[in-house]
Amino acid sequence: MIRKKLIAGNWKMNKSSAEAVTLAKDIVEAIGRETSVDIVLCPPFTALESVGRVLEGQSVKLGAQNVHPEKSGAFTGEVSAEMLRGLFTTHVIVGHSERRSYFGETDAFINKKVLTSLANQLKPILCVGETLVEREGGTTLAVVQRHVEGGLLGVTKEQITTVIIAYEPVWAIGTGKVASTEQAQEVHAYIRDLLTKLYGAPLAQKVRILYGGSMKPANAPELLAQKDIDGGLIGGAALESRSFVDLVKSAVAAG
Ligand code: PGA
Repeated sequence: MIRKKLIAGNWKMNKSSAEAVTLAKDIVEAIGRETSVDIVLCPPFTALESVGRVLEGQSVKLGAQNVHPEKSGAFTGEVSAEMLRGLFTTHVIVGHSERRSYFGETDAFINKKVLTSLANQLKPILCVGETLVEREGGTTLAVVQRHVEGGLLGVTKEQITTVIIAYEPVWAIGTGKVASTEQAQEVHAYIRDLLTKLYGAPLAQKVRILYGGSMKPANAPELLAQKDIDGGLIGGAALESRSFVDLVKSAVAAG
C-alpha cells in the first residue's frame, strides 16, 4: 500500500493533564510499538508536555489541536508552531469545523496556519467538510473544493505529501450520524482528484485523506476498506483507550 494508514485522536477540550497521562499510558501499553499504522494523540495544550513524556521512545506521535500563524508577539491565548515543536509535537490539527464555526476561522487564516506548520516541520491535519445545510443544498463538493484549495494555497510540491487532509462532514461530528461509506468515499475520491489537478497524480496518490465524524470500532472496518480513506480523525471514541485501540487495530487489519 502506497499510503500508510493514520489514526489520530482529537481529544478536544477534554482530560486534565493527569487524566491525559493515564489515557496515553493505556494506549501506549496496548499499541505503543505498532508501526504498520501511524498513530497520533492530540491532547489539549495543557497536557501536551505530560503526554509527550509518555510518548517518548514510542511510535505514537504527539499532535496539537491548533496553532497560531505568527512566530511570537501580542496574541493573548495563542500558541506558536515553535512552542509546539519545543514540546516534541509533530502534528497539528488545522481548520477543524469547530474552529471554523465557533471561532470564525476563514480559509485564508487556516491557510496561514498550514504554511506556518510546514515551515516549522509540523505536519498539518487540514480539516475540510460541509454542514448539513450545505449537503442538503447540494453544495458539498463546492464547499470541500473551497476548503481544500483555500487551505493549500502556496503549499509546494515538496511539501504536499507531509500534509494530511481530514474530511469531516460537520453533520457527522459528535452526532452519531456517520457518513455512509459511499458518501465518504465519493468525497475522498473528489479530494484526491483536486490534489491530482493541483500536484499531479504521483504526489496526490501519496497524500493521506482521513475520515472524521462519529467513527468508531463498529463502522471503522467498512470505512477503512474504501480506496481513498486512509485513516481516521477520531473525537468521542478517542477518549477511551479501548475504543481507540480497537480503531487502531481496524486500521492495521485494513492495511
Ligand atoms: P467525533 O469527532 O469522532 O466525536 O465525531 C471527530 C472530530 O471532530 O474530529
